[in-house]
Amino acid sequence: MNKPKIVFFTGAGVSAESGIETFRAASNGLWNNHKIEEVASIKGWEGNPSLVLDFYNQRRQQCLNALPNLAHELIANLESKLDVTVITQNVDDLHERAGSTDVIHLHGEILKVRSEKYSSLIYDWKKDLTIGDFCEKGYQLRPHIVWFEEKLEESKLNQAMLHTITCDVCVVIGTSLQVYPANQIPQFVDEDAKLIIIDPEEISMDFKREFYHIKSTATEGMKEVFEVLNKISVR
Ligand code: OAD
Repeated sequence: MNKPKIVFFTGAGVSAESGIETFRAASNGLWNNHKIEEVASIKGWEGNPSLVLDFYNQRRQQCLNALPNLAHELIANLESKLDVTVITQNVDDLHERAGSTDVIHLHGEILKVRSEKYSSLIYDWKKDLTIGDFCEKGYQLRPHIVWFEEKLEESKLNQAMLHTITCDVCVVIGTSLQVYPANQIPQFVDEDAKLIIIDPEEISMDFKREFYHIKSTATEGMKEVFEVLNKISVR
């Protein structure tokens, strides 16, 4: 018998209670007076790489200093009973640290860097990254992050869509659903499957289908969802 298949699709809001500011809340989308979209971009990297590294060095330290919260933990906990996949737009590793074993990072990972020239040369990285840090072939390293103007890794996007199409329940947590193409993921949930959204704000996307909005924070919302999902029996 198969375990019910649950997809969690998460955004910055799931890590907000761990002390990591969401993108659109962070100083109105500004960082040191720069628009985040300008820093987190190829243009930013080409124009002022030190500024970009500085931005991500701060994000890396913030991630290392943060701890998973109850929402991450409850999601991981459900793995013992259900077939759980986490699809996240977040670059932090809080889902993994909470114990989730099947996590798809659509927008990259802050604790990894890669060669600017050979994108398959990827390294674990916890310290600051600076100009002059090279891959083994002598090329500059850059954050392993999908920047604005860059394409998502196709295999990851396909994997994410496949999980979503075939899931019984999809729980969307803490995302403004503004960034394409990741924001299309919940649109792939089958009409017979359940779609639940946890977010303290109104939902901006038109789903043209039934969904349940739990209008609260990730930890409060996950307590409710956990109670229900924990009772789902194996089919
Ligand atoms: P956003 O910052 O756009 O949205 C955060 C969402 O979390 C909003 O809908 C908030 O209402 C909600 N929120 C705030 N506090 C919360 C809490 N305590 N619990 C639950 N929800 C809460 O973040 P994302 O949607 O993740 O891309 O942003 C998507 C992408 O835009 C990011 O991955 C990043 C960014 O530019 C890249 O870096 C490529």
